[in-house]
Amino acid sequence: MQATADLRHAVQLEDLGYEVAGRVILSGLTLRSSARRIGVVGRNGSGKSTLARLLAGLLAPSRGTLRVEGIDVQADRKAALATVGILFQNPEHQIIFPRVQEEIAFGLRQQGRSKSEAAAEALRVLALFDKAGWKDAPIQSLSQGQKHLVCMMAVLAMRPQLLILDEPFAGLDIPTKMQLGRHLDRCAIRLLHISHDPGDLRGYDEVHWLDRGRLVASGAADLVLPRFTAEMIRQGGLDDLSQLSD
Ligand SMILES: Nc1ncnc2c1ncn2[C@@H]1O[C@H](COP(=O)(O)OP(=O)(O)O)[C@@H](O)[C@H]1O
Ligand SMILES: [Mg+2]
Repeated sequence: MQATADLRHAVQLEDLGYEVAGRVILSGLTLRSSARRIGVVGRNGSGKSTLARLLAGLLAPSRGTLRVEGIDVQADRKAALATVGILFQNPEHQIIFPRVQEEIAFGLRQQGRSKSEAAAEALRVLALFDKAGWKDAPIQSLSQGQKHLVCMMAVLAMRPQLLILDEPFAGLDIPTKMQLGRHLDRCAIRLLHISHDPGDLRGYDEVHWLDRGRLVASGAADLVLPRFTAEMIRQGGLDDLSQLSD
């Protein structure tokens, strides 16, 4: 047991817990994985976004430990910025600048690159995605899918080792979802994709099922996802919306 815990995994949670205002949001999460495509599935409110924020070092655990690519992301913010990227569901929560190139350059400036280096690298990434023409485009003029792509380019420009996707495709139409998915498939970095929709995680190397702040099952996607779907259909037949305290 001890020997396993000492091995370096890409994502390593040991008895991780998170509480806010006396309420337990996550508890007893132990997960060790070096898979390239890791999925986390769970209902709304199961704690997925809280886990995403912990993994990105944006929240401090209340219990246990958490390492990403060997780094204590909460304690070492500089290393975390170089290692973990995160894409949120709503691009409006991520975008700060009015124009595309400066938005992409911002993360690179945060990583300590000079202004000219960051601008040049932002252009390089735009060209890589065949979007050099977007450089001076006002972000507000872009469609929702295009805004998602800007966020994706901005985070990939920072060359994270792990990219956390917190339901970034929820609410997008099927073609946009497929197009963004293809961009992701092309990049060689490790993905930790969080979703309530099992369809998003089909074919993933590993899926971890989160329910009310606890991991209830882990394994290959074709084992865990059908069980999850069956349970969601079962719960859909109940009326848990009427309970206020859950
Ligand atoms: N800062 C907070 N204060 C109070 N409750 C919170 C806070 N953050 C999350 N929660 C609660 O924790 C639960 C899990 O939230 P979240 O991680 O957003 O779940 P998910 O992303 O799976 O929908 C929800 O019931 C939510 O209301
Ligand atoms: Mg969420």
